[in-house]
Amino acid sequence: MAEKFDPARAEALENPDRLVELPPAKLVELLRISGAETVVDFGAGTGMYSLPLSDAVPLGTVFAVDEQPVLLDRLRAKLEARPTSGNVHLVTADRGRVPLQDGVADRMLMVNVVHHLDEEAPAEVFRLLAPGGILVVAEYAQMDRPVGPPNDHVLALDELRAVLTGAGFTELAVYAPGTVGLYHTVIVSEKPRP
Ligand SMILES: C[S@@+](CC[C@H](N)C(=O)[O-])C[C@H]1O[C@@H](n2cnc3c(N)ncnc32)[C@H](O)[C@@H]1O
Repeated sequence: MAEKFDPARAEALENPDRLVELPPAKLVELLRISGAETVVDFGAGTGMYSLPLSDAVPLGTVFAVDEQPVLLDRLRAKLEARPTSGNVHLVTADRGRVPLQDGVADRMLMVNVVHHLDEEAPAEVFRLLAPGGILVVAEYAQMDRPVGPPNDHVLALDELRAVLTGAGFTELAVYAPGTVGLYHTVIVSEKPRP
């Protein structure tokens, strides 16, 4: 069983340096967003990346999904002060089940989430993405870096790829640290069409 994110560390998620280390604009580009998509931010936490996604889809919808309501409460407070983000909807996962329909997402983003997932969760991620939809995953790489969890808490590249392909995704591209993000491996995948 993967280690759950400690909600006492919510404040650390809000560090603005994170947006320099892993710029949302680059993730939006990899997601191939045109502005009207439905995007799921899976494991959204306090919504550090949900808000830029909201700006990227002014004619679309963002579902910020998390299993920890206390983290979504922080995002709710931010949304109340940000009327332009009325397209963000908060969704609480309940015992591994996300109350959204199959294939709801044209696009899906997961930042620093995969190493927290339990065994059943990748199937739920796969269920939510529409056939032909794009998934962008960013995870801290196993490397010498000044931020993020210790290397024995993050996934090796092969393990990360195996989680995604094991769930059924087709890998489209892998970006090493220093390309999209300073300290992240970023993988772009697609859900195959039947
Ligand atoms: C390290 S935090 C990252 C939060 C956010 N993506 C960010 O980058 O700021 C990992 C998040 O994944 C969530 N999470 C882990 N497993 C989950 C699951 N099966 N369903 C929904 N959320 C999950 C945790 O509750 C936590 O908020």
